[in-house]
Amino acid sequence: MQNNSSLIINHSSHLEGEISIPGDKSITHRAIILGSLSNGLVKIKNALLSEDCIKTITAFRMLGVKISIENKVISIYGNGLNSLEAPSSEIDAGNSGTLARLISGILAAQNFRSSIIGDESLTKRPMERIIKPLTDIGAKVISETNTLPISFFESSLNSINYTSSIPSAQIKSCLILASLFIEGESTIQESIKTRDHTERMLQYFEYPLSINNKSISLRGGGIISAKDITVPSDISSASFFIVGALIKPNSNITLKSIGVNPLRTGIVDILIKMGADINLTNIRTIGNEPVADIVVKSSKLKPINLSGDVISRLIDELPILFIACACCDGISSINDIEELRYKESDRIKSMEEGLANLGIKVNTTSNSINITGGYFKGGIVNSHGDHRIAMSFLIAGLIATKPITVIDTNNINTSFPSFIDLLKEQKNEVYSV
Ligand code: S3P
Repeated sequence: MQNNSSLIINHSSHLEGEISIPGDKSITHRAIILGSLSNGLVKIKNALLSEDCIKTITAFRMLGVKISIENKVISIYGNGLNSLEAPSSEIDAGNSGTLARLISGILAAQNFRSSIIGDESLTKRPMERIIKPLTDIGAKVISETNTLPISFFESSLNSINYTSSIPSAQIKSCLILASLFIEGESTIQESIKTRDHTERMLQYFEYPLSINNKSISLRGGGIISAKDITVPSDISSASFFIVGALIKPNSNITLKSIGVNPLRTGIVDILIKMGADINLTNIRTIGNEPVADIVVKSSKLKPINLSGDVISRLIDELPILFIACACCDGISSINDIEELRYKESDRIKSMEEGLANLGIKVNTTSNSINITGGYFKGGIVNSHGDHRIAMSFLIAGLIATKPITVIDTNNINTSFPSFIDLLKEQKNEVYSV
């Protein structure tokens, strides 16, 4: 398929039965990263083997870590915190903001030079948010426009005492990872809590850290104790099918072993508030993360008014939430979403344009969107190279009166390579053009 391939969805069926959602992207990145810094063999099960996560594997191989993949299990042979080697060329983060920002914390602290590059979309995304706190502690970083490419030079870092004003798990995790290499205690505080997978995984690997509400403290030079880890399935990927089942009449689906970390379940909480029939069963813990089986039945949804801290708990699910809002009778208002402008595309703009093309009334400001519920009339939308925009509009196709064509869909492989096959397994007609 070409880079800008398009997909048409038509004549969709209701969704039913078990739908197998792949491993969590955020947690897979972190398992590869911490496994690479651990003191032995880490086997990662149910890892997401998508383009983004493969970029992370390639990056750590370039840093001298032995990593193999067999029967979908990733084996990482860690040699400890101080074992990384200088890469022979630039590290390519591809489309992955998580890789670029998290690995920056590690590279800034090494006694060798390195550079990170990315694809067209990632090269436009803001990196000042990590460059500033890293240079504040003595990192030698060159980036001409506070975007990729970024180069790191040998430097010795002072301990961190940083409060992040932007709610971002990537900034927090970048600084936690840098702290692993810094003598003395570092403290990173958040103004709004974001996903805590890095902290949970460090605890799972028995690395000492103390967490006090929004503040995390740790000392460098400890040991990340190697052990096997299983990745929960991805709530963000699950959300496409959750909303699909809610809006498509007569649907009834089960999604097993989905990660239900409370800092990721904003989408479930809000959909339930909107009237969704969603049940979490069999709640348990895997690799220090809560997981559950999720049962979803078609439901009539009510419009919603959202703002404040919940936004960071459903940041990646906003595009598919907008699709749910477009199916309600009445106006939904979603505020405090400026961060959406800095994702794989400007998601406020991409969603505004796509919804309008499908006949939905939308008003936006710099940090909000109002969506008036209606009917998807079918038509053509552009994903603007953004996987979550592409998948959101394909789900809209389940109930559109005419086919929806989504332009530029190869990016779905960055996070959910089996998405189209799962749609087809549910007897939906999906064609490549
Ligand atoms: C992620 C954090 C979020 C999220 C991204 C994954 C992570 O980004 O949008 O998809 O794995 O830490 P920000 O930290 O930029 O909000």
